[in-house]
Amino acid sequence: MQPIGVFDSGVGGLSVLKALRQTLPQAQFVYVSDAGHAPYGERDVQHVLERSAAIGRYLVQNHRVSALVVACNTATAAAISTLRADYPSLPIVGVEPALKPAAARTRTGVVGVLATRSTLASEKFAALLQAQDPKVRFVLQACDGLAAAIENADHAQIHQLCARYTQALGPLGSGAGEMDTVVLGCTHYTFAASVLSTLVGTDVALMDAGLPVAQRTASLLQTSDGDGLTADKTEPWVELLTTGSPTALENAARQWLDGTGAVRQLNIV
Ligand code: DGL
Repeated sequence: MQPIGVFDSGVGGLSVLKALRQTLPQAQFVYVSDAGHAPYGERDVQHVLERSAAIGRYLVQNHRVSALVVACNTATAAAISTLRADYPSLPIVGVEPALKPAAARTRTGVVGVLATRSTLASEKFAALLQAQDPKVRFVLQACDGLAAAIENADHAQIHQLCARYTQALGPLGSGAGEMDTVVLGCTHYTFAASVLSTLVGTDVALMDAGLPVAQRTASLLQTSDGDGLTADKTEPWVELLTTGSPTALENAARQWLDGTGAVRQLNIV
């Protein structure tokens, strides 16, 4: 029985894990929150690359994972090609801001992108942006501090930062020249979706990438040996691990996932 490994800098990847659980209800998962070395989005690329390599190595060596899901836009941008080079036969799925679905959805031709500073500065993001329909205008907004506020469940700060960053996007709505679609380009931001929805209004769609990532993982596993699809019913469906304090992950898992086991703290070097 090989679980699917999933990691993020913190609780954000639980939004992807939730979609994975819905798409692959038979699978078992091991989730690593790297809260002891977070946030990733305002750190240098080398730090994110080294942390991603250490967690990938840990999941492959200690859990013999059947697939690896990098449930973090920032880590995907920094490290997915290195991880793929290190484990050429392992199915590895990353997450990137949902620009293409947003471009397909917008009627006004204006799309906002909320993401970490590091994701927006990455070459991978530049290439993704370059590949979009030139008729769509993308407005990019780095959201310093927002992932950390979500990690700490600091509701006042979440509200304040969401208000600041949505305001910075410019006019929102379905009228000519207004922004009718906003991409949540960091997996943490899905957990602020209700605050963001209230701020942007009902005419504006928020798009994350949880479901497409889950569907891609399912299709890769079905085309490989499919080991991750058979649950051992005596075990909880997910093992939750953190390099930081267990409280944030415990609380977030209680709120966003059904029936998980306890959180275990560990060092990954
Ligand atoms: N959840 C991560 C992402 O999707 C970033 C959070 C952080 O800055 O650590 O980019």
